[in-house]
Amino acid sequence: MSSSFVITDFGIILEIFIIIGLFFFMMKLDSIREDIPAELYKILGREVKELRPAQEKAVKSGLLEGRNLLVCTPTASGKTLIAELAGIKNIFDGKGKMVYIVPLKALASEKYKDFKKRYPGMRVALSIGDLDSSDPYLADYDIIITVAEKLDSLIRHSCPWLSSVATVVVDEIHLLNDVSRGPTVEILITILKKLLKNMQLIALSATIGNPEELAEWLGADLVVDDWRPVRLHKGIYLDDEIEFY
Ligand SMILES: Nc1ncnc2c1ncn2[C@@H]1O[C@H](COP(=O)(O)OP(=O)(O)OP(=O)(O)O)[C@@H](O)[C@H]1O
Ligand SMILES: [Mg+2]
Repeated sequence: MSSSFVITDFGIILEIFIIIGLFFFMMKLDSIREDIPAELYKILGREVKELRPAQEKAVKSGLLEGRNLLVCTPTASGKTLIAELAGIKNIFDGKGKMVYIVPLKALASEKYKDFKKRYPGMRVALSIGDLDSSDPYLADYDIIITVAEKLDSLIRHSCPWLSSVATVVVDEIHLLNDVSRGPTVEILITILKKLLKNMQLIALSATIGNPEELAEWLGADLVVDDWRPVRLHKGIYLDDEIEFY
């Protein structure tokens, strides 16, 4: 048996140990039972048994105490649930609405369907239309899913419900770096911070080069983690063979 095979086998065994270990040591949803509304615990309990490492770190960083957080963790690590824990808790606690900003209209429609399905008792609105107005009807909704340009337009029309927003989620915040759309997001966050002094801001991204700097600008604590549900392996493909390293 060549030495490279021994190393590969050891790697697989180590991975299995890590996965088993994680299941034992992952924070249980039960451990935050007292910190979230009973209704939210019941809804989440149907699908979630353990909190993923990023979610545990967010909780330990004050997610449920209203802290602003910049969460920078790999794709599919469970960032949406971090936003939900804060936003839905704030709604149940009577603090106010959640506005969830995504970069694309298609993503907004997807999130809208997900939220409608998971929280049937909540009033969820999708606000991505091109019509320039203040959309006063949104006052009747708990969760508003939108894109940055639309929220920017709503604010410029002095939407009357803005003061009842308690949680602002900026998903895929690395869009700030986009040459054409980044400035809108930057100005939008600046305006929101000025108008909503008590809002809880949750910013999410899988890819940020300068998270410390961004967290400081946002006035947020930084949550960084590199756990991912599917491990990434790097390798070189040559002559129908992949050599992993
Ligand atoms: N604690 C958990 N237990 C079980 N499943 C979970 C948990 N947290 C999240 N998930 C599931 O993991 C999947 C990925 O989560 P999510 O979409 O929030 O990832 P993400 O970090 O936002 O990824 P991306 O950067 O690609 O947007 C979803 O199907 C979600 O329901
Ligand atoms: Mg996501």
